[in-house]
Amino acid sequence: MSKVTVVGAGNVGATVANVLAHRDIVKEIVLLDIQGNMAKGKALDTWQQAPIDYYSTYLRGTDNYAETAGSDIVVITAGVPRKPGMSRDDLISTNAKIVNSVTRSILEHSKAPIIIVVSNPLDVMTYAAFKTAGLPATKVFGMAGILDTARYRAFWPRPCRFLQRIFRLYSWVVTATPWCHCPGILPLRGFLS
Ligand SMILES: NC(=O)c1ccc[n+]([C@@H]2O[C@H](COP(=O)([O-])OP(=O)(O)OC[C@H]3O[C@@H](n4cnc5c(N)ncnc54)[C@H](O)[C@@H]3O)[C@@H](O)[C@H]2O)c1
Repeated sequence: MSKVTVVGAGNVGATVANVLAHRDIVKEIVLLDIQGNMAKGKALDTWQQAPIDYYSTYLRGTDNYAETAGSDIVVITAGVPRKPGMSRDDLISTNAKIVNSVTRSILEHSKAPIIIVVSNPLDVMTYAAFKTAGLPATKVFGMAGILDTARYRAFWPRPCRFLQRIFRLYSWVVTATPWCHCPGILPLRGFLS
């Protein structure tokens, strides 16, 4: 893998870029945001951790889609997060406009990247990106399952944490079943803590 673009340099996007850089599995990460200077600053911060944490991933921040050219993977985190009292569905119209415009801009510079959508409401935004991109379904994904899995496993009582290794496959399977990415993702919570 040579180039990954992360669109949206907010809480999620900057974290994605930072974690991915530390894995040292891609040559270059472009962090793009309408707030270009913030994207530049966050990309620089992560790049400058490299000599301490021993990775060779190069990062740069921008607000210019030309710099995303030739991306193999694009992660879309751009959008508005929920405010207290809002459901994910309250974000539909605002974030759909953002996700559609981001998808169009990305495809002007990268031919057929894999697109991973994170912006909420996740299922709707993933479908919006899929329809706008016109790419095969195998190229457009929504990211939520790993979050649901992590939350599910975090609620296991501490003394049982060692069992997580044994039941890792089980918890993956359970949270990968088609429940909604919503408060109902923790159906067994009452039994676990
Ligand atoms: N799928 C999941 O599991 C999951 C988990 C957490 C958050 N989310 C969603 O991810 C999204 C981002 O959350 P966050 O906490 O990082 O929000 P945030 O506000 O910290 O960051 C969003 C960033 O998007 C940028 N942005 C807005 N419009 C843009 C555009 N047109 N082009 C480029 N950048 C643009 C903003 O400037 C901001 O920096 C939200 O929709 C949130 O609900 C999804």
